[in-house]
Formats: sequence, C-alpha cells, structure tokens
Amino acid sequence: MSNANEKRQAGEAAIRYVEDGAIVGVGTGSTVAFFIDALADLKDRIQGAVSSSEQSTAQLKKLGIPVLDLNATGPLSLYVDGADECDPHKRLIKGGGAALTREKIVAAASDKFVCIIDSSKLVDLLGKFPLPIEVIPMARSLVGREIVKRGGNPVWRDGVVTDNGNWIIDVHGWQIADPVALEKDLNQIPGIVTVGLFAQRAADVVLIGDREM
Ligand code: 5RP
Repeated sequence: MSNANEKRQAGEAAIRYVEDGAIVGVGTGSTVAFFIDALADLKDRIQGAVSSSEQSTAQLKKLGIPVLDLNATGPLSLYVDGADECDPHKRLIKGGGAALTREKIVAAASDKFVCIIDSSKLVDLLGKFPLPIEVIPMARSLVGREIVKRGGNPVWRDGVVTDNGNWIIDVHGWQIADPVALEKDLNQIPGIVTVGLFAQRAADVVLIGDREM
C-alpha cells in the first residue's frame, strides 16, 4: 500500500477516538489533513478544534469546524497528529512541517495523544530524519555551536519562518539512543524554543494505517 493510502487510512481510523461533544486537538501535516477531512463529517457532533498551525486552521475553517483558543478551552481529551519518525516506545521526531512548538503545546494540554503515520515513519532508533529545532532568530549561531559540541550537524532551514516568527535548525547525524535525556539537555540551551523530540510526552496510541501499535 502506498504511503498516501496508509496516511489516509490512519487519518480516518483516528476518528474512532473522537467522542461526542469533544474539543479535538489537531496537529499539522499531510496525514492530519486526511483526519481533518474525516472530522468535517462529524462537525455537528463536536464543539470544535484547537489547531496547532495556521495551515490546519485554514483547513478546519474552510470545512466549517470551529477553531477554539486553547486558553479558553482548558485541557483537551484528545490530540491527533502525525510524525516524521516513531520508535517502538512511541517516542517521536516531529517538526518536518515547522509546526512543532504549537504541536507540543497542544499535545501537553491533551489527555490522549493519538499519532497517525504510515509505515515508512517506523524506526528502531530516532535520528535518521534530521531533528527539527525551533530557535529564536538571534540565537541561531549560538544554538548551532552547542549542537556541534554534542556531535550533531546543524543545518539552518533557510527561508522558513515559523507561525511564531522563529527559525528552524535541522540536526543531521544523531543516532538518538536516549531521546528523553537529549530532549531535556537541549531544552536547557538559551534560544531554543522547542525541540522536535516528543519523548518526555510520547504518543499514547500510534496508528500505522488502520493498525494500532
Ligand atoms: C509538522 C509535523 C508533521 O506531523 C510531520 O512532519 C508529519 O507530516 P506528514 O503527515 O505530512 O508526513 O510534525 O510539524
């Protein structure tokens, strides 16, 4: 089955976690786009969505799904999002679409994180996909030097500005044996806004196509 078909299956399968009356946390990306399409079919049964990006907000609004402010909703019961890599412990690399900061916020605010992927995203060890890091623009070089000290090869995603007005560094060359420790370590570097490791708060459920991990 092609990656696109598996993404569609996963997006549609995630609908079974949506409860009547819910406010649904919605991630970003091509897999999530399938989920949003499917969510539109039940828009009359939910209160609305909290979005993790301008891209998803535009799709949600276009389909008539109310987009709510996380500050007004309080905790969410469900967050659905894709990933760039997923290890056997449901720890993830995210941020290929540069939406990692709001994604991490909405994931942290949610009781259940359902991650929807195609099988190409499954890995034994995270790090083949370059690790995205959102940085305050003036800290780009400082953060780059700190990454080099830790054995990584930082590459500035030139031309990309996040929804929060920041920049992205993609770190190549790391084989991430301890993602929780690396996430904590990188979070201490001044100028880093968000590390694209979702290890401290991993996914609760992973759907690979319609197969649950
Ligand atoms: C965006 C993300 C996406 O979830 C990730 O890049 C996967 O995208 P896709 O579903 O298009 O493969 O983290 O910041």
